[in-house]
Amino acid sequence: MAPFHPLFLAIIILSNVVVSHQQDYAAVIPALNSAEQEATYRVLDSINSGIPWRSVFPGDLCSSAPHGVVCSYFSEVNSSDDETVHVTELSFGYVSDYTPNPPCAADAVLSPLLFTSFPFLRKLFFYNCFNHSPVSFPDIAVGPTDTLEELVFIDNPSFVGSLSGVLRNFTSLRRVVLTGNRVYGRIPDIVGDLVNLEELTLSRNQLSGEIPLSLARLKNLKVLDLSHNFLSGKVPPSMGINQSELLKLDLSSNGLSGRIPESFGAFKKLQFLDLSFNSFGSFGVPMFLSDMTKLREVYLSGNYLGGQIPDVWENLGNVVRVGFSDMGLEGNIPASMGAYLKNLSYLGLDNNKLEGTVPKEFGLLKFVGEINLENNSLSGRVSFPGSNLTSRIGQTLKLEGNPGLCVDDEDVLWSAKNSSNGSFGQLKLCKKEGQKPNPVPLEGSLSTAQAFPNSGFVILGLLILLLFA
Ligand SMILES: *[C@@H]1O[C@H](CO)[C@@H](O)[C@H](O)[C@H]1NC(C)=O
Ligand SMILES: *[C@@H]1O[C@H](CO)[C@@H](O)[C@H](O)[C@H]1NC(C)=O
Ligand SMILES: *[C@@H]1O[C@H](CO)[C@@H](O)[C@H](O)[C@H]1NC(C)=O
Ligand SMILES: *[C@@H]1O[C@H](CO)[C@@H](O)[C@H](O)[C@H]1NC(C)=O
Ligand SMILES: *[C@@H]1O[C@H](CO)[C@@H](O)[C@H](O)[C@H]1NC(C)=O
Ligand SMILES: *[C@@H]1O[C@H](CO)[C@@H](O)[C@H](O)[C@H]1NC(C)=O
Ligand SMILES: *[C@@H]1O[C@H](CO)[C@@H](O)[C@H](O)[C@H]1NC(C)=O
Ligand SMILES: *[C@@H]1O[C@H](CO)[C@@H](O)[C@H](O)[C@H]1NC(C)=O
Repeated sequence: MAPFHPLFLAIIILSNVVVSHQQDYAAVIPALNSAEQEATYRVLDSINSGIPWRSVFPGDLCSSAPHGVVCSYFSEVNSSDDETVHVTELSFGYVSDYTPNPPCAADAVLSPLLFTSFPFLRKLFFYNCFNHSPVSFPDIAVGPTDTLEELVFIDNPSFVGSLSGVLRNFTSLRRVVLTGNRVYGRIPDIVGDLVNLEELTLSRNQLSGEIPLSLARLKNLKVLDLSHNFLSGKVPPSMGINQSELLKLDLSSNGLSGRIPESFGAFKKLQFLDLSFNSFGSFGVPMFLSDMTKLREVYLSGNYLGGQIPDVWENLGNVVRVGFSDMGLEGNIPASMGAYLKNLSYLGLDNNKLEGTVPKEFGLLKFVGEINLENNSLSGRVSFPGSNLTSRIGQTLKLEGNPGLCVDDEDVLWSAKNSSNGSFGQLKLCKKEGQKPNPVPLEGSLSTAQAFPNSGFVILGLLILLLFA
């Protein structure tokens, strides 16, 4: 009679153990009520009517359910010896053999029952489910779904809707992940009312307009990812002030402009900052970076910020990746980057207007993956004492497009030319000692190097003066 499915058995045994631990009353395992049971079948049919859900899972769906249907037990508030069971999580779309959620059919739709018939639903998850004809949120008054804490739609290219239509009255939401869908329109002000929100990921949609001021009210936010949309205008200048919990901020690949707000400096716990590929104006690299002592990755590439690379690195020893490409940066590369960023594994400074030498401190970076300095105006001798330049140059150290650079060693030169398949045409051997003024190796202290934009020549000048004095 009963389906002696191994999973079924396991759940029975498990439930018994739990119950017998709590009280000595008879272990009556509550069954899912018929309304939720029926609604679950109908939702499964709406996702994939090709599978005969009722005959594959004929019994109580909380005892034996497809992966993705999760129930929880609740004690009735008023009666001491009654438990009930309810569907609390629904996940659809096959992810992997480890997460074999019900697969979605080509004609999958979003059933309104999801929002009316599961009064205890906490999590709703759709992965790669809606790929064909457009699917939208049903236009129904939200009531019971006020329990919803997690709303996750990942890679559903035919899931269409305005964000205000999607979020509306889900006031309990802690986690909103809508990425790779066709969610469009402005980010509505009501976002600021979702006071429990810890993650707001809206990347890879078609959102437009400005980032609303109300976003700055979300005090519990840990992750904010609005990347790859069509957002424009200025970022609210109060963002960060009440948001010290934020760990990740990704606003990359939008059309944001104006100044990067100083208030970002209040993101004291931030580990990941990506503002790249926007239109932030030429106000320089923000100094507040020096306050973000937990920072691990920072990307500002593709914004014409201009100015020099500031000396903000002393307390940023956790940084592993820095992307400062194509930013109109001028002046020298601060040697302090090499000296303080001990764990740096990626540094992109390519396509700027940087001058001066390659700091020999970069040779100290043991775990370095790639240093890309291509297409600048760097000059002088590339020399990393104690580090094997031959094995790096052209591979993990990219120097093309800096006609003024030279190396001492013919092996290094050849390995550079060979590794870039001959396109490394500009790199040359340094002139031998005594032939011509060599670029002075960086023996001066850090502060001297930074104080003078072309310290090499200044020091040289001083030396000559001293000799003739
Ligand atoms: C529980 O009891 C309170 C007051 O005694 C009552 O207002 C409430 O409706 C009861 N709840 C349920 C679920 O029966
Ligand atoms: C949200 O809830 C409020 C009160 O509960 C109601 O007045 C309003 O119409 C609801 N909004 C939407 C979009 O459902
Ligand atoms: C920050 O929080 C304080 C206290 O709740 C409030 O008065 C202030 O307006 C908030 N500031 C912003 C920018 O949200
Ligand atoms: C650098 O990485 C090493 C190894 O992962 C770690 O032990 C060390 O604490 C890191 N240093 C800093 C300053 O983060
Ligand atoms: C440097 O410039 C050349 C020529 O414009 C280009 O082909 C190359 O991709 C650039 N390098 C980088 C890292 O962008
Ligand atoms: C440096 O690296 C190159 C290429 O990886 C290798 O052939 C050479 O022996 C190395 N030199 C030293 C001194 O380790
Ligand atoms: C680079 O290529 C040239 C010619 O193909 C070869 O003679 C030379 O040994 C190579 N050098 C290195 C360092 O690989
Ligand atoms: C050089 O060419 C070879 C073969 O064409 C290719 O496999 C390799 O990736 C190239 N190396 C670089 C640095 O472009």
